[in-house]
Amino acid sequence: MTESRKQKIGIIGAGYVGLVNAVCLAEIGHRVWCFDYDAGKVERLNSGVVDILEPDLPELLAGGLDAGRLTFHTTAEEALPEAEIVMICVDTPTDPQIGPDLTRLMSAVGSVAEHAERAEILVLRSTVPPGTSILAEEEFSRLNGSRGISVVSHPEFFQEGRAVEDCRRPLRIVVGSRDKDAAARVAGLWNMPDVPTVVSDLESAEMTKQASNAFLAAKISFINDIARICDAVGADIDTVAEGMGLDPRIGSRYLKAGVGFGGSCLPKDLRALVASARSHGWEPRTLTAAIEVNETQRRLVSELLAERLGSLSGKTIALLGLVFKPDTSDLRDSPAVAIAGLLIEGGATVVATDPAVHGGEPEIPVGVRLADDAYSAAAGAMAVVLATEWDAFTALDWSRMADAMEGTLVVDGRNTLDPVIIRDADLDYVGIGRGTVAG
Ligand code: UDX
Repeated sequence: MTESRKQKIGIIGAGYVGLVNAVCLAEIGHRVWCFDYDAGKVERLNSGVVDILEPDLPELLAGGLDAGRLTFHTTAEEALPEAEIVMICVDTPTDPQIGPDLTRLMSAVGSVAEHAERAEILVLRSTVPPGTSILAEEEFSRLNGSRGISVVSHPEFFQEGRAVEDCRRPLRIVVGSRDKDAAARVAGLWNMPDVPTVVSDLESAEMTKQASNAFLAAKISFINDIARICDAVGADIDTVAEGMGLDPRIGSRYLKAGVGFGGSCLPKDLRALVASARSHGWEPRTLTAAIEVNETQRRLVSELLAERLGSLSGKTIALLGLVFKPDTSDLRDSPAVAIAGLLIEGGATVVATDPAVHGGEPEIPVGVRLADDAYSAAAGAMAVVLATEWDAFTALDWSRMADAMEGTLVVDGRNTLDPVIIRDADLDYVGIGRGTVAG
């Protein structure tokens, strides 16, 4: 990248989205100041310590800090005065009843109006409900009417566990703005002329992100619905998904049946989109169905165990996995955590194990006991439930598991275990949509 294209960028929010953007923009050669209220986190980041599990993040952070292109600050006064472009990367929590809470986002706009004296462009990078960028624009004008700023909606599409890779090599760049030059300048920050770029109005950029997440969520709920039918008729969902996925109009990804989707994005964004549709008088039936099916999948394991074991009360259940997907440490809206809660509610004793969970995390339901590994978790268990498909769990010695268990039931909530190996260990295998639930 040429010297002239290096920009001075302020980032508000050193969470997942803010941090990944900060390190990747610094790697490209931009000067990045990142602002977060959390003084402990800022101190750790300035010393090169990352709290989240994400490949390449510590290395890129170290590179940015060493080059003097990346610094973290606890105040907007410190972080924003030099910035020509400010990216807002704070989260927008959604309450299913009330809808999205834009308090943090609007407070970030306030910080830009007050402290980013040189800023020409305000970028909304985190996922926001459609219409938010216009509200941000209005809020900026209300606070600082004398100075114009161009608002650009520039959604990210990072997946946890590969966020740095997704940021460095995106499948597409989406930029929406009333000011097309500002949109082009933001797209140009990444210096990726070969990546397809969609330039649009603000609302379309926001909707592109929301609709993408909603589609992925609906695709997972669709395959889970089909999995239920597979169980009823004795078909195998993995074979069905393989056959379906070979049609490029369908595609093979996001067709893995199981206990459903979780995490900080898909469930929340789906709810936000439903709330947005309803606020405009539209009932988005495919989206509400996707949410309902996902909730049903979360209940499936406890219902199945109650049926097979007679009742949950007093039974010890080993739970393999707590995070929402492998290779992360994220427990937010995790199906595994929801399953643990339902089992406890039903009177079971839950002994869980997860390579990324060490105890004390507030998301873990009260009463869940933690074990060091799967074999200790299985000791005395009537059933083992696999809820997160960590490699460590797929590679278990099931004869050893069988020796440790008191019962014989193995519920594979992610369809990643080999039923033949489980049965060879004299255990009873139940998957999701593998034609085993009805049997
Ligand atoms: C998601 C989107 O993929 C990403 O583009 C967006 O920017 C943020 O939200 P992430 O939250 O990291 O990313 O999770 P993802 O890998 O998409 O998985 C979401 C959930 O769906 C997980 O709980 C996963 O276990 C589940 N899932 C995924 C399935 O149950 N079946 C599948 O086939 C795929």
